[in-house]
Amino acid sequence: MFTLESLSEKLDRLAAFTAPGPGVTRLVYDDAWCEAHLWLQAEARALGLAATCDAVGNLWLHNPELPPGARVIALGSHLDTVKRGGRFDGAYGTIAALLLAAELRGSGFPVAAFVTCEEEGSRFPMALTGVRGLLGRLVPSECEGARDANGVTWGEALAAARARGCAAPAPAAGAAVPRLFDAARQLELHIEQGPVLESWGDKLAVVDRIAGYRRLRARLTGEARHAGTTPMERRHDALAAAAEIVLAAESLGRATGAPGVATAGFASAEPGLYNVVPGAATLGLEVRHTEAEALARMERELGEAARAIAQRRGVAIELETKAGEEPTPLSEELAAQALALAAGMAIPHRRMASGAGHDTMAFAQAGVPALMLFVPSRGGISHSPDELTKARDLWVGAAFARELLAAWRQELA
Ligand code: GLV
Ligand code: MN
Ligand code: MN
Repeated sequence: MFTLESLSEKLDRLAAFTAPGPGVTRLVYDDAWCEAHLWLQAEARALGLAATCDAVGNLWLHNPELPPGARVIALGSHLDTVKRGGRFDGAYGTIAALLLAAELRGSGFPVAAFVTCEEEGSRFPMALTGVRGLLGRLVPSECEGARDANGVTWGEALAAARARGCAAPAPAAGAAVPRLFDAARQLELHIEQGPVLESWGDKLAVVDRIAGYRRLRARLTGEARHAGTTPMERRHDALAAAAEIVLAAESLGRATGAPGVATAGFASAEPGLYNVVPGAATLGLEVRHTEAEALARMERELGEAARAIAQRRGVAIELETKAGEEPTPLSEELAAQALALAAGMAIPHRRMASGAGHDTMAFAQAGVPALMLFVPSRGGISHSPDELTKARDLWVGAAFARELLAAWRQELA
């Protein structure tokens, strides 16, 4: 059985693979990501597992005797992080899965650890591409042209990672990533990333639903004019309109109330000078909710508010929905079983929905019975260098996952 110390030690080592700067920055296919990937492969081999990459750099860490295409219990999370993220988001579920897969290697129960290459959408504007590849639902030739902030294409970045041993050969143009294993069930361990467990003094959450989201890009076009000479009443200031839209998004989130949230994640203005009234501005807007109808209403109301603000200010607006996921229910049967097990083990726990998106959404959407478990996040902080979960709490989650897998094994025997 792996120890609390081995879990913590491997998490520390994984956190060291980061670009310079605060927190952990490991963006898909970058140097830190490739080094972490190669390190994970070596760790898996040292524990007697095979490490097999797919064509986009997802990893399976598995019993070498499992034949390609085997039906497995898929246990894992993602390797990438947001910019200046924390040490546990994705990493916890990845390391716990590695250790559990190694522990169960000779058990006859086919638990395989998956490590998705990308979940966050932090480098290329495409979240959850990794898990879509893992599930055979991604056609790489369709994403190749997407560019990161430095103009590097997804295809170029992947080819460089492949040359370093972090991905299998590309499939033919138009073909999907070949699936290496078939998931009979899926489980992801994750930090909560919010304040619920800590506030209630609980140690574990059984997640029964994951919020959906919509991401919209607003492009505002006003009139660039001299900032010293253009009277206030004659301006069509694109940035001032954007600012009002940011506040409208905040009001919408507050008025909707939990579990609805609305965020303006970025804004930029052109030409971006002290002495020019901004002629153009770009905003990144996001709404999330656990109910499909409420999510659609938030998207609609945000669009209406943005258009009304732009019209009142004489600024043109183009609103484009860039990405979205539907609210996703997880397996009710697996959730009920996990809740009963947690009660039996006297672990303070609760059932909850996830406000954050996760790889598990894609498994559930593909019809795989899927479940997530959360452990507490200190202060509810995540997507930040301040992300922290006590080693003991990480251990409780992993030990519970071990018991849950044992229950699945009995049930499926
Ligand atoms: C992923 O962390 C997301 O919820 O955006
Ligand atoms: Mn995240
Ligand atoms: Mn995550």
